[in-house]
Amino acid sequence: MTYNEIYSQSIDSPEQFWDEQAKELNWYKHPTTILSKDENDYPLWFKDGELNICYLAIDKHIKDGFGDQIAMIFDSPVTQNVKRYTYNEVKTEVAKLAGGLLSLGLKAGHTAIIYMPMIPQAAFAMLACARIGVTHSVVFGGFAPHELAIRIDDCKPKVIITASSGIEVDRVIAYKPMVDEAIELAEHKPKKVVVFNRKLGARVPFKKYDVDYDALVYGSEEADCVVLNATHPLYVLYTSGTTGKPKGIVRDTGGYATSLKFSMQKIYGVKEGEIFWAASDVGWVVGHSFIVYGPLLNRNTTIIFEGKPIKTPDASTFWRVIAEHKVNVMFTAPTAIRAIKKEDPNGEFIKQYDLSSLRTQFLAGERCDVATLEWYQKHIPIPAIDHWWQTESGWPMIANMMGVEYLPIKPGSAGKAVSGYDIRIFDEKGNQLGPNEEGYVVIKLPLPPGTLLDLWQDNERFRAGYLNKFPGYYFSGDGGFIDDDNYIFITGRVDDVINVAGHRLSTAEMEEIVASHHSVAECAVIGINDELKGQIPLGLVVTKSGEEIEHFQLEHEVVQLVREKIGAVASLRNVIIVQRLPKTRSGKILRKLLRSIVDGEKFQIPSTIDDEAIIDEVKEQFQKYKKGSFK
Ligand code: COA
Ligand code: AMP
Repeated sequence: MTYNEIYSQSIDSPEQFWDEQAKELNWYKHPTTILSKDENDYPLWFKDGELNICYLAIDKHIKDGFGDQIAMIFDSPVTQNVKRYTYNEVKTEVAKLAGGLLSLGLKAGHTAIIYMPMIPQAAFAMLACARIGVTHSVVFGGFAPHELAIRIDDCKPKVIITASSGIEVDRVIAYKPMVDEAIELAEHKPKKVVVFNRKLGARVPFKKYDVDYDALVYGSEEADCVVLNATHPLYVLYTSGTTGKPKGIVRDTGGYATSLKFSMQKIYGVKEGEIFWAASDVGWVVGHSFIVYGPLLNRNTTIIFEGKPIKTPDASTFWRVIAEHKVNVMFTAPTAIRAIKKEDPNGEFIKQYDLSSLRTQFLAGERCDVATLEWYQKHIPIPAIDHWWQTESGWPMIANMMGVEYLPIKPGSAGKAVSGYDIRIFDEKGNQLGPNEEGYVVIKLPLPPGTLLDLWQDNERFRAGYLNKFPGYYFSGDGGFIDDDNYIFITGRVDDVINVAGHRLSTAEMEEIVASHHSVAECAVIGINDELKGQIPLGLVVTKSGEEIEHFQLEHEVVQLVREKIGAVASLRNVIIVQRLPKTRSGKILRKLLRSIVDGEKFQIPSTIDDEAIIDEVKEQFQKYKKGSFK
């Protein structure tokens, strides 16, 4: 089948198409109702289907005779450790942990937070929850206690599963004290905290609610998979929105399993038994879909990598992992390739490894810039595929569907719409734009299976954020255009969300924190272009009148405040002081204008600005900042 054929089928007869795809899974009960509506009139897939995703990811393969196949390889350059787990071994770990969680009183319908570094136990915890119907919410380990507390209060977990520590390059990060602090900060108090002690020398304070992970696993009976409805919430994954409060994306079970199996085969072009590596983190959607559930559903070997593209120990790590484990298909963020390129511009490390197993390199998380793509292809001449998706979608929306037909790459484009996604470009008023016209990227409802079901206990925000702007369409928050050949180019977010080194962050949230500093009268945080990280946040601050604070002191304090509240991952490093910020007549800060000014792009001075000196000052202060002479 060609790309055009499979795409047309999915759009013309979605029910028939997804019914067929769902047959790729061993449901306990195959759905008879394929597409229906929920009580809020939102499309719902496979309403009456019954399955268990943990069964499909593990037990089924054992039943089929593949128990001795390697399911997971834990490759941890930071601890100089490589450990392999067969499907049989993963099952024992997961089923016993699930039994342990049951003994703590957890059951289907409850929630659990997982706050762990990149270790197999994080994946075991996710799968153990899925096994017994507990909705998990994995929180990225780079988030500070304050962020964890916000998530605790929102999804009200009965249990938090954590580890004593993680390692950031050469720094031990003590996780447990951060969990304790988050519990102190939160109003909701989980009953138990299950702690996996890595014995890496980190401080592991003991609290009455603590349960030792190993003791729990070894002291428990294996639990069986429970039968779950297709619409059962498998997980809540928080992502940055346009306010200070993160959005809890709710994922179903049946639609998700169907879409991941489809993605592994038709998008990533991976056959059962092959080795797939997504170099991301379980705290992000990539980790959920393509470190844990997708590859295991497809009976692949997945790699849990605890390291960075550089410094662990150097820019050869990725190539070492590919060669050592014979990776067939890999996924990473362009920023990781840029980091490697910076350290090893001539690709000397690449030459030292046999990368012949690697068939395709997928890139996502941010647009893949042409220079990065060209560098990659010069040194590794295999298809390097940019593809676009979001936490909300759960799986790719624009890609080159490598398991269907390889289409020529157009640098700068993420490819064409994936099966099931009817993508259009709209103007502000909701008029559909023609080829090459830039506007809002929207998707006609129904979205295909596996995409977000709702926001956790906040349907109003779900509708306001995604559905109300263009009735009948999902608003992605990204801008872009479609060219004459139906290739889609994503040009960037049209809201206050930024992408820093492949991490999605909210400038609105950072603004709230910067504004809380006692010397700050008002502020704006904008994303500015950065050669390595794609974007980095920059704070523009107006100090309170009469405030005598040195720039370097204010900057230091504001940066510390953001690190303390969000985490180091926010990467706010620079703050500039200005006298005034450009605003609309109603007082709204013109952030888009600020971005254009600092990125040196062309812009029109809005009619609301009667004093151009405001703009000149921002320009001048930014120039000083760039030269490092801002004081
Ligand atoms: N736990 C604790 N701290 C973390 C963390 C974690 N899991 N992840 C990141 N941090 C910290 C880092 O240590 C760093 O702290 P510092 O400011 O004290 O040095 C800070 O957060 C910023 O981290 P990061 O944005 O990762 O920058 P970096 O300079 O350490 O590394 C890259 C740059 C490009 C190598 C790295 O960002 C990278 O590998 N990016 C790819 C990301 C990715 O795969 N995303 C998934 C989307 S597909
Ligand atoms: P996240 O939800 O963290 O996966 O981030 C999703 C956002 O990252 C999207 O809305 C885009 O802004 C951006 N993004 C992800 N992949 C790409 C890509 N291939 N090209 C352009 N932007 C991307």
